[in-house]
Amino acid sequence: MCGIVAYIGNRQCRKILLDGLKRLEYRGYDSAGIGILVHDNAMQTSGSNNGSKAAISIVKEAGKISELEAKLDGNGLDGTTGIGHTRWATHGVPNQANSHPHTDCSGEIAVVHNGIIENYAEIKEDLSAKGHIFLSETDTEVLPHLLEDYMKNETGGDLLIAMQKLLRKIRGSGAIVVMSASSQDELIAGRIASPLIVGISKEGNFFASDMPAVLEHTHNFIVINDFETVRITKDSVEIYDIDGNTLHREPFKVNWSMESAEKSGYEDFMLKEMFEQPYGIRETMRGRLSGSELNFDEINLSDTQIKKLKKIQIIACGTSYHAALTGKLIIEKWAKIPVEVDIGSEYRYRDPIIDENVLFIAITQSGETIDTLAAIKEARLKGAKVLAITNIVGSTAARESDSVVYTHAGPEIGVCATKTFTAQLMVMYLIGLYLARARGAMDNSMFSKILNELDIIPNKVQKILNNAPKIKRIADETYRYTCFLFLGRIFGFPMALEGALKLKEISYIHAEGYAAGEMKHGPIALTDTKTVVVGVIPRDHVYEKMLSNLQEVKARHARLFALVTEGDSNTGKYADYIFELPNTIEELYGILAVVPLQLYAYYIAKNHGRNVDQPRNLAKSVTVE
Ligand code: G6P
Repeated sequence: MCGIVAYIGNRQCRKILLDGLKRLEYRGYDSAGIGILVHDNAMQTSGSNNGSKAAISIVKEAGKISELEAKLDGNGLDGTTGIGHTRWATHGVPNQANSHPHTDCSGEIAVVHNGIIENYAEIKEDLSAKGHIFLSETDTEVLPHLLEDYMKNETGGDLLIAMQKLLRKIRGSGAIVVMSASSQDELIAGRIASPLIVGISKEGNFFASDMPAVLEHTHNFIVINDFETVRITKDSVEIYDIDGNTLHREPFKVNWSMESAEKSGYEDFMLKEMFEQPYGIRETMRGRLSGSELNFDEINLSDTQIKKLKKIQIIACGTSYHAALTGKLIIEKWAKIPVEVDIGSEYRYRDPIIDENVLFIAITQSGETIDTLAAIKEARLKGAKVLAITNIVGSTAARESDSVVYTHAGPEIGVCATKTFTAQLMVMYLIGLYLARARGAMDNSMFSKILNELDIIPNKVQKILNNAPKIKRIADETYRYTCFLFLGRIFGFPMALEGALKLKEISYIHAEGYAAGEMKHGPIALTDTKTVVVGVIPRDHVYEKMLSNLQEVKARHARLFALVTEGDSNTGKYADYIFELPNTIEELYGILAVVPLQLYAYYIAKNHGRNVDQPRNLAKSVTVE
């Protein structure tokens, strides 16, 4: 996710902003920029800006902060008010024009923003009709223009009221910080759904997306909530609700070290990222699913092309392969198109049959996995249209495909994929629905039922995360076992594979995932008192079959841990441990079931003292064959 740091006070801020941005580097970014208010006389050094003319000076660059610093080198730019940003691209490739801060037409208003503006296209169209000129591909750029429009035409130049209007106008998410050359003694911010804090110090005040950005200057913070707006000056903080009513909130003190602040107080990035899943899933739906509508133009295929599709071929590696397996089940069931799934490293050597009536989908969180990239090349050579699904804007997979659907999970730092996986699953659901509609394969009532359910899935994932201590207790009691079998059927099967992979990756314990019906063909020979069997057994149409499979392993004295739908009173008769999943429709259980499996792997690995963020022998992005 992007990072924000902003300062207003008595000190020169260039170094404060750059140091703050460096503190946010660990989150991942692809470009950076700062904007500083520069006065045309020496009044600023006395700390008073009264009466002096000011202009905003912006320096921004694609790439690392060191490149931004190099650009600033030898340029005396400094001042006592400024905003800074590290960008993690969501709309538009990482380049200088798309970097923040963005300005209005006059260059008098500068904005940094974290989040996604869902209705930016329509806002941009309205403002363009009024003569506004846009210079970037970003959604963010509409914000300074909208503020300019409000200040000129509706709020009599008041920036705070303009921000309150803006929060009412935009749909989506945002932590937004603004400075204006015409109201030079203040910084204004607003928030919807993206983190924003105020840092308070004797020498001035800060806005930041995360504490590490300003922790070396202050330990006193105020958290800003959704639809609140804030004005900070060098010695005051005022918080307002969206209607302009004043809110009173006392600052609190944190005693976190820099390291624990980077992880927002979580012990590891992996734990933090698992807990970010409701946010990542919602962000991935944002702009695509709104109310009763599904907009998915990124797929870039006409209804006629979709109707003509004979086959879909999905390619992926590792965890992404498990999202691909789910995609197959979903697309075949909903859109009635045959789907083939291959592992990237196998596909390229097996002389596959593919032509222009095959849609080729490549799933890769990093966008750089060499085996997946080679498969993309092969498919394009054979004339197929390639759609990439990736978390990294501008990655090789994105550049080398005909179209791209981005997951918006935010940067993932832990090596093993967690939040990128649930975001991929969400994309699979959305693609399945989109194709089903375009082919007329799903009736209205089913379509609405699924849309409604998708909309509340993030809350259900949150409910599971709230129950993490229960998973920890089960892990604490079972971590000494040396053989783990993960079983599932249909939508539960890819999750069984993913549960086993997570456990292997971070605990180094032998684990296997199986389609439960396969147990009798070999793996059941492994089950004895030293085995833990983890069963994914939601209330679906194979529930009874699955229950029989679990009874079979129980009869061989394995320890049994079952993931069941809430209210299931049957499975508990056989299982040693039960974890309840919220009720959902059968096709969507995967995205719920995988969360406790991730947590289970995590707590087992922690019991063994493993480094879960950087497991041995593994890499986040595998660029060798
Ligand atoms: C590496 C990562 C895995 C990931 C796999 C595929 O092995 O450690 O977490 O699932 O690569 O990566 P991709 O970026 O293509 O999804």
